[in-house]
Amino acid sequence: MEKRGDGTSLYGTFIRLSWHASGTYSKADNSGGSNGGRMRFTPEAGWGANAGLKVARDALEPVKAKFPGLSYADLYTYAGVVAVEEAGGPIIPFATGRTDESDGKASPPDGRLPDADKGARIATITHVRDIFYRMGFNDQEIVALLGAHAMGRCHTDRSGYWGPWSNAENTFSNEYYRLLVEERWSPKVTHNGKPWTGPDQYEDASGQLMMLPSDIAMIADPEFKKWVELYAKDEDRFFNDFSKAFAKLLSLGVPFAATKPWYQFW
Ligand code: HEM
Repeated sequence: MEKRGDGTSLYGTFIRLSWHASGTYSKADNSGGSNGGRMRFTPEAGWGANAGLKVARDALEPVKAKFPGLSYADLYTYAGVVAVEEAGGPIIPFATGRTDESDGKASPPDGRLPDADKGARIATITHVRDIFYRMGFNDQEIVALLGAHAMGRCHTDRSGYWGPWSNAENTFSNEYYRLLVEERWSPKVTHNGKPWTGPDQYEDASGQLMMLPSDIAMIADPEFKKWVELYAKDEDRFFNDFSKAFAKLLSLGVPFAATKPWYQFW
């Protein structure tokens, strides 16, 4: 995978693809999740939250052509696993066997993936918990998963937000937590010398790095902050916890994972 520092590298986009393929899951009725490979169909392909992910799906087509026996559902999730590992992150336990659906009829309703901003800090914190608790995650797992924002960036033509979270967007590390704790984050008001007209986001003193309101929630809430501080100090612990939480995410709603949840033995 080619590493580029200009935001055109696909590491981050592959990780986001695998997360958005999986993050539609609801434990209440076992709907959603990565099985089915439905993001290539309407409605999921057109969801605002999935804007830009076609770039990653299209980039995987040559892999699908080479390995036709591999389902799209496995391919979309495995792409994130490979990106994390290639970028220097932990090994992620993974099993193939997901099957593809032939249309998007079984897709859950839009709105299952998180918004970055609910207008007020407390509302954003509550929203993040609602989304991840619905999938079956706890606070520690939420914070561990968010560490993936060390990778990749926001694109104004996709989400409206701008910029990378870290100084090394193609390297998997605990930098997200270190920056959250060590930098001073203030609302972004200018961009390249002109007024910022995009959605509310935060920037560091240099104006080159960003945080979403939902990222700032990780230090605004004391329970989340506890884990941010731990991961900022202990990268091994972060790698270990991320590996478990990401493997769990990718297994949600996958039929064979219910009987043999490999990620629990890691
Ligand atoms: C509260 C939860 C989350 C919110 C609100 C959120 C929001 C966002 C937004 C707005 C973007 C920018 C998309 C773009 O403009 O291209 C983004 C990118 C990204 N997200 Fe998240 N995210 C969340 C959780 C996660 C999780 C759990 C992961 C993975 C485990 C993840 C991995 C990524 C990556 C790697 C990118 C960079 C994509 C790229 O470079 O193309 N995010 N996220």
